[in-house]
Amino acid sequence: MCFQKSLRQSTSGNADFQKYNPDPPYSGCVAKHKKRTAPAPSITPAKLAQGWSAPAGGRIRPAHPDDLGRAAELLSDVGTDITEDLNAAAGKADTSLLLHECLSSRDNESAMRAVISGTLGGREVDPLAGLSALLVATDRTGQVLGCALMIPPGRFLAQVRRVNEVQGLALMLVITKLKGLAVDPAHRGRGIGAALVKRGVQLYEQSGFHVMYGQFTAERNLEPFYRRQRFTVLDLGEPLQPLLALPASIVSEGEERFFHRMLG
Ligand SMILES: CC(C)(COP(=O)(O)OP(=O)(O)OC[C@H]1O[C@@H](n2cnc3c(N)ncnc32)[C@H](O)[C@@H]1OP(=O)(O)O)[C@@H](O)C(=O)NCCC(=O)NCCS
Repeated sequence: MCFQKSLRQSTSGNADFQKYNPDPPYSGCVAKHKKRTAPAPSITPAKLAQGWSAPAGGRIRPAHPDDLGRAAELLSDVGTDITEDLNAAAGKADTSLLLHECLSSRDNESAMRAVISGTLGGREVDPLAGLSALLVATDRTGQVLGCALMIPPGRFLAQVRRVNEVQGLALMLVITKLKGLAVDPAHRGRGIGAALVKRGVQLYEQSGFHVMYGQFTAERNLEPFYRRQRFTVLDLGEPLQPLLALPASIVSEGEERFFHRMLG
């Protein structure tokens, strides 16, 4: 059975979810027949590996193993201590492997099977790493100036799985979290942050995902930045849960504000 169909069934009767998705893009079985007015350029795994040209004359591309230390440094310099997430999500050979599968197969069926069985083509795959992406922005000499880490929201999905196993697994291929974003202070204001977000959105959109969200501490005042990247920014204390109406909440920690964007 198409997993999007199983997700639809598991969320059917859920009025809020349907309100949030009046024309559910997650119903890939239907959506593939729809005409898109302005199709984005197609990303293939090969194209992804090449990356895209970026501000400052450099590239935006998936991180290489050598970039991991610099990415951790950039993130920790801005107080985003996600070294553990970074290692779990982006420090492995499996990183983005299931996204490549989604991009190649044009539907998410084999990726979903891999999420369920933990194997792809007979090889063991860690779904967390497989569905994560670490993009870096470099200058023309290859020096890393910024990075963006996108991962499945593990704790939230674990909560959903305790209530509804199928829904929790299916959501791994529907929701992604922009867990960390940082640009070297000397290179801010040149469009690097926006370009990293744009390419991250494009990557997950074309991999069949439907929601990207994240959170920032209120004192950072990043509302204008994320609004410009077409995210909806929630007020301080406003939870993400009523929008998704899933059997688990995405709660903010401390003084944090959520931002989210529908993909596709
Ligand atoms: C947020 C961040 C990634 C943006 O990177 P960038 O390369 O400077 O972004 P861009 O050049 O694409 O966009 C810059 C715009 O965002 C605005 N902006 C960025 N950070 C801001 C902040 N903390 N407060 C207010 N505005 C901010 C800038 O004012 C600028 O607006 P302008 O073009 O009208 O001058 C970068 O400022 C950064 O690393 N900040 C620290 C870490 C952080 O807050 N990360 C996000 C956590 S979710």
